[in-house]
Amino acid sequence: MDTQAYSTWLEIDLDAIRDNVRAISRMTDTKVMAVIKANGYGHGTLQVARAATEAGAEWCGVARMEEALALRENGIDSEIMVLGYTPPVLIPEAIAKDIHVAIYDRGMAKAYAEEARKVAGRLRAHLKIETGMGRLGMMPKKAAEFLAAYHNEAQIDVDGIFTHFARADEPQVEMTAQQLGRFTRLLDQLRQAHLCPPMVHSANSAAVLNYPEAHFDLVRPGIAIYGLNPSPESPLPAGFRPALTWKARLTSVRTLPPGHGVSYGSKYVTTREERIGVIPVGYGDGYRRAPGQQVLVRGHKVDVVGQVCMDQCMLQLDGVPDAMPGEEVVLLGSQDGARISADDLADKYHTINYEVVCGLADRLPRIYLNA
Ligand SMILES: Cc1ncc(COP(=O)(O)O)c(C=O)c1O
Repeated sequence: MDTQAYSTWLEIDLDAIRDNVRAISRMTDTKVMAVIKANGYGHGTLQVARAATEAGAEWCGVARMEEALALRENGIDSEIMVLGYTPPVLIPEAIAKDIHVAIYDRGMAKAYAEEARKVAGRLRAHLKIETGMGRLGMMPKKAAEFLAAYHNEAQIDVDGIFTHFARADEPQVEMTAQQLGRFTRLLDQLRQAHLCPPMVHSANSAAVLNYPEAHFDLVRPGIAIYGLNPSPESPLPAGFRPALTWKARLTSVRTLPPGHGVSYGSKYVTTREERIGVIPVGYGDGYRRAPGQQVLVRGHKVDVVGQVCMDQCMLQLDGVPDAMPGEEVVLLGSQDGARISADDLADKYHTINYEVVCGLADRLPRIYLNA
């Protein structure tokens, strides 16, 4: 791996992704849909799709049709499902490329059926049920009537039914049991009426860990395949590992005199002679203007000082007097036994680890290990 040409880059270990997918398969004993929307949670859609399918994921789940089409165009031949909204004009493409879509109301189904009729094709759809997320989904009481109407519909095969949990990452909260109750009562009713679609799914990563009864025929893990915790209350068990490391090179190391301002606004002022380093990473890369951030230099945690700029930020290097321009710094990941996790950064940003990795800018070069 040659990183000489880069000043900052991401290293993504595809073996970690493969091992995490295999760990989920072992835990669930069902089919796996690897959720790789939003550029594979920042890790790279196509590379993650390849690794996940090599490790046995039979499905890839994305948010938008553009993502699904990019996977097909680049040779991913697993089942692919768009979990979010698909504009009706894209239905002919969905049919041509054998991509499953989500349906959640009758008007939408009608529009999709019309588009499918124009190309004399059959659309493969999964009915999304609202059980408590309050986002997309048909109310359970409308599902039987809908499925009866579409049972013999020439243009749409409803071959799946699914729901999504709002709080599965908070295992102590009742809400997921309630959502599951609503969903399973509906499934029972549909089975009795011979209307239940063949494939049932509901579990995100947190439900994979906390609710075995939610595994059904297929699980839909996202964050866990990247080796990141669904939440601090739902950490991954041993055996999972993060795939991503964010590195940069020190581009400058200088000793500044006492009373010298550092970065915009001079929010940080040296109190003595201080060794100040620079790394070429900033908010343009997804490294935010948040106080209290640290990076790893020679296995030591050092403070980021002064405001983070668009493309650069400064480090207090007194604790690592030998640090030299050109050497590697780790912003996210491990170095010589020390570690900064996506959870650590999320804590500084008052957000969740999902947002940290999804926020990694496109301009960051992504280097794939074990490709
Ligand atoms: C419908 C659906 N299923 C599964 C997932 C995967 O969730 P997680 O990354 O928490 O495993 C998502 C992601 O938000 C989703 O929207």
